[in-house]
Amino acid sequence: MTESRQSVVPYFRPELTDAEIHEVVEALKSGWLTSGPRVKKFEEQFARAVGASHAVALNSCTAALHLAVEALGLRSGEAVLVPTMTFAATAEIVRYLGGLPILVDCEPETGNLDLADAARKIEALRAGRLQDPFRASTRVVGIIPVHVGGRMVDPSSVRAFAAKENLWVVEDAAHAFPASWRPDAMSPWQRCGEKTADVSCFSFYANKTITTGEGGMAVTEDAALADRMRLMSLHGLSRDAWERYSGGGWDYRIVAPGYKYNLTDLAAGIGLHQLERAETMRVRREEIAARYREAFSGIDELEVPGDDPDRIHAWHLFPIRLRESALSVTRDEFIEVLKKEGIGCSVHWRPLHLHPYYQETFRWAPSDLPVATAEWRRLISLPIFPAMREDEIASVTRVVSDLCARYSRGASQSPSRAGQTFVAAALAGEPS
Ligand SMILES: Cc1ncc(COP(=O)(O)O)c(C=O)c1O
Repeated sequence: MTESRQSVVPYFRPELTDAEIHEVVEALKSGWLTSGPRVKKFEEQFARAVGASHAVALNSCTAALHLAVEALGLRSGEAVLVPTMTFAATAEIVRYLGGLPILVDCEPETGNLDLADAARKIEALRAGRLQDPFRASTRVVGIIPVHVGGRMVDPSSVRAFAAKENLWVVEDAAHAFPASWRPDAMSPWQRCGEKTADVSCFSFYANKTITTGEGGMAVTEDAALADRMRLMSLHGLSRDAWERYSGGGWDYRIVAPGYKYNLTDLAAGIGLHQLERAETMRVRREEIAARYREAFSGIDELEVPGDDPDRIHAWHLFPIRLRESALSVTRDEFIEVLKKEGIGCSVHWRPLHLHPYYQETFRWAPSDLPVATAEWRRLISLPIFPAMREDEIASVTRVVSDLCARYSRGASQSPSRAGQTFVAAALAGEPS
């Protein structure tokens, strides 16, 4: 283990080439820095890549989600079904407009929203069994599924559920570009963003599957929704700066109290070239996922994501789930030692109902969302990024396998004591 200590594998390293650098330099030289021709081109090319009619480039996925629910008319006091297993953004944008997120549990293996629990939550609401501030009369208007790690939720089931309950669907596709699904092997693939929701929202944050540093995109088939999101992304002005200064004249009207969510041409310049390589980078992540799955296949102390022939997975995340009963250490201790051994990792996520704001404001109890409560304690996201070198992949597989063997309750020499000694030594920084 002493040797692996030196090989530091970061959780993520972006893959940026001379093409991105050259494009940003060209944008700088052009003198047009904010939203302009590169943003327009990025929108057109992204819409084509996902098979959508309209794309609105924004400065984050959070902005895209916010504008989507605003355009769909979310009003204060209305409720929206949001998975508890997600990042802050998915629920906070409901709060921005005074909406009430009803947290929904997840499927154990994928971490994706469980529609059966969504149905149970609606039933509980209508029966007056949900806690204050929810009331039996609270209107549920929408659902925001998240494609956790880039493995798509079945959008047709979500659509059917939404149609039955009269809900709109905004897809949090922060992890899901490029990703596709099909109902079965006989059906054609459908891309995430290709009519899979009323609005699909993507992220180009620094460590996402493609990046613009910070950035996002909202795509839709509905021209009126696209127009509203575009308007609200720039102060509610009737014409953007590019239109005004590229020959349209200085004048504009404020027609709504909008936000400041536009993407810059510098960022779009990066995005244009990331977009060109999106599938190549996805294939590389898929190869890394296959290597991990193979390396960990015989290890009883952990579970890896299952294979699904009806998904083209974006592989933004590679979550392993530790089998707590087979190990003598906790997930947090396991992460500490991984860190000491030079392997960057993360956790996706501490579910929303276990954060102070959602506990205090909505009084969710851990038992209200039992699957997420149990699963998150054993989750670890391993590094998976296209710029990962072969020696880095080998380091991750070697260190994870080694730690599982050392901490295994099934190990021959007094397993828990051996594990504890190793943890103590590793945390103290001693060679192990
Ligand atoms: C599921 C999910 N939704 C939304 C976001 C927000 O994306 P952004 O940082 O582009 O606003 C993230 C960011 O990590 C995310 O993981």
